[in-house]
Amino acid sequence: MRFLRIVLCCVLLSGLVSAQAANPTAWANDPQVESKIDALLKQMTLDEKVGQLITYSQGAPTGPGTGRSDYKEMVAQGKLGSLFNLTGANQTNEMQKIAVEKSRLHIPLLFGLDVIHGFRTEFPVPLGMSATWDPAIVEQAAHVAAKEASHAGVRWTYSPMVDIARDARWGRIVEGAGEDPYLGSAMAAAYVRGYQGKQLGGPESIASCSKHFVGYGAAEAGRDYNTAEIPVRLLRQVYLPPFQATVDAGSATFMSAFESLNEVPASANAMTLTQVLRKEWGFKGFVVSDWNSIGELIPQGVAANHAVAAAKAFLAGVDMDMESNAYGPHLADLVKSGVVPEAAVDESVRRVLRVKFALGLFDHPYADGKGSDAIAAEDADLARKVAEESFVLLKNDGGLLPLNASGKTIALIGPLADDAGQMLGSWGAKGEAKDVVTLRAALTKQVEAAQGHVNYAKGTDILTMSDKGFSDAVGSARKSDIVVLALGEDAQWMTGEAGSRANLGLPGNQQQLLEAVVATGKPVVLLVFSGRPLVLNWAAQHVPAIMEVWFPGVQAGPAVTNLLLGTSSPSGRLTVSFPRSVGQEPLYYNHFNTGRPTGDTDLTRPPRTNAEKFMSRYVDEQNSPLYPFGFGLTYSTMTYSPTAVSATSLSAKDLNAGTAKLTVSAEVKNTGSRAVDEVVQLYIRQTGTSIVRPVRELKGFRRVGLAPGASQKVEFTLGRDELKFWNLDMKDVVEPAQLTVWVAPDSIGGQPAQVAIGQ
Ligand code: NOJ
Repeated sequence: MRFLRIVLCCVLLSGLVSAQAANPTAWANDPQVESKIDALLKQMTLDEKVGQLITYSQGAPTGPGTGRSDYKEMVAQGKLGSLFNLTGANQTNEMQKIAVEKSRLHIPLLFGLDVIHGFRTEFPVPLGMSATWDPAIVEQAAHVAAKEASHAGVRWTYSPMVDIARDARWGRIVEGAGEDPYLGSAMAAAYVRGYQGKQLGGPESIASCSKHFVGYGAAEAGRDYNTAEIPVRLLRQVYLPPFQATVDAGSATFMSAFESLNEVPASANAMTLTQVLRKEWGFKGFVVSDWNSIGELIPQGVAANHAVAAAKAFLAGVDMDMESNAYGPHLADLVKSGVVPEAAVDESVRRVLRVKFALGLFDHPYADGKGSDAIAAEDADLARKVAEESFVLLKNDGGLLPLNASGKTIALIGPLADDAGQMLGSWGAKGEAKDVVTLRAALTKQVEAAQGHVNYAKGTDILTMSDKGFSDAVGSARKSDIVVLALGEDAQWMTGEAGSRANLGLPGNQQQLLEAVVATGKPVVLLVFSGRPLVLNWAAQHVPAIMEVWFPGVQAGPAVTNLLLGTSSPSGRLTVSFPRSVGQEPLYYNHFNTGRPTGDTDLTRPPRTNAEKFMSRYVDEQNSPLYPFGFGLTYSTMTYSPTAVSATSLSAKDLNAGTAKLTVSAEVKNTGSRAVDEVVQLYIRQTGTSIVRPVRELKGFRRVGLAPGASQKVEFTLGRDELKFWNLDMKDVVEPAQLTVWVAPDSIGGQPAQVAIGQ
């Protein structure tokens, strides 16, 4: 009997655990936690409440400092509930001990950090991660980051950045998943699942922070921190969905953005922070401001001083002040003077405490420092695998790649061939250059194992104009059979925050180096290390093989080498359009059609007819990107059958009711001689609708492994979620329309099929 009871109990308990795992927002709805919070709130003074609503950086500034550093005293007095940029078990435990043992109410601290693409094990930069089109592997990478961070005391990451970015000039395009809301939502949710694990309270789970809410990626002219003007429908349709996906995935926190969004700064924007996030989406975690974004309400011109700024941000829905020093000195007074209701402060404190309880910090406040000595072998393996999946083969004339290194001499040239620090990318967290295996190290090892030889020459620096190293580089090329050029951007200076560029070419004199090396007549493989699309027109015309490798992380060298030598085949696909010219920006595949034809034209002569002239076009550049969204080659060849649909007509009413679905499929065949992963993509277009809809929209994708000669029917389902849009009446519904669908290898390929969506 007793045995039966134990078994029954175990079954029930495991049911409970898996129910929690299946419900990613379970942490937000625990009545026991809410009553613990009630009890605490009753005991808290107003100053202690305000303390939970501020966070300061311990060093590592990314903005103006507050001049404060008396954190230990503040923590002891219960006037500071969170710190960021403090890491390591010893360091965080020392501070935590003060909070837990010395402060009156023993409320634990929450330590935050920008764990963006890894903590110590650095994975590719997020734009590269998105190019894997593999949310499952991104989730695994985020989990490794969470594991390492949590053992070092960091239980809160300022990630994922889910800002849609359509302008390659914006430096922070590197931190997101590119230009598409569908892919962006899938990636956003994957990060949250990876960070937060099955339960937020798990010992290796950390709270995610969805940022930057919202519209930051639409910074005008791609200049960081600049104004964004986003019509409400576009906001709903493109910029908000990835954020909503993170709420659905259980993201515990949000960060409000810097920019003015439609004339209302995002950190004082009640429409987005309260109406959308709280009321429509039911978000129960807390919102932290970005670094000094409350203080920046003053230069933006909506607050005369920090007190007004604090009131505006708080009343709009920002629960926690990061580094503005606005809530600390002013929030209590604002309550006393009746500007801010104390009940609202209580609600914000509740949200913060809810996350602290959910993380289990009250029961387990200290970190154990486990695994801090080195990167685990299996994590390095994963980092290599993610990097391999992230590389996008842009060109491969005559099958130059993969290289046969056996007995060959390879010239390895360029400033990014042997620069370990650069491989860590922007926001390298606690990544260490000594953990990085560079391309030079990995390629030399593998080529020598194949009785070949590598001649290395740096050629130039990333940013210099000196051509001192050119002759060496050209000499190496001349005496080699093949040249591999590793060129690109400076990860720290030219990508990430405050890394906007007005020019998108190779920096410094790398273009000249490229031309000098190509002039030797040797076969050249160009590897582009960058945090954004670069303008690669010259290379596209003169270099036989080009591969975009982003900033690949600690396993940069082995991953690139495996692809160069064909141990693995490229399978990454672009998640951003590569322009032909910076003047095309913002450039994105899911644009609307104009009333005038928009196709590419002959630019070598003036238009001959009115029909040729009065088109929506540039007179000196094509409209199309050099490489489109979704594009990427591999070492095999694929065929796609015509797109098949399960019905040629459907009713909008049934689709809206959720009772109708459309199945779309195609047979994809590997017609080459190598096993490869193909990223099969589903696009739609709707016409005859109340508003104009994009020429194509991604609505499904799948990475499938295909052996040589193998084929697979790849099937997608379209229903209400995929077909609805914010229509003329601002209703999010499926409308009667003519629907075109493509199962395609990229955003311009595939064969269309038609479906009529009637009433
Ligand atoms: C400013 C950045 O905009 C944000 O993304 C980051 O999380 C914070 N600084 C904290 O470092």
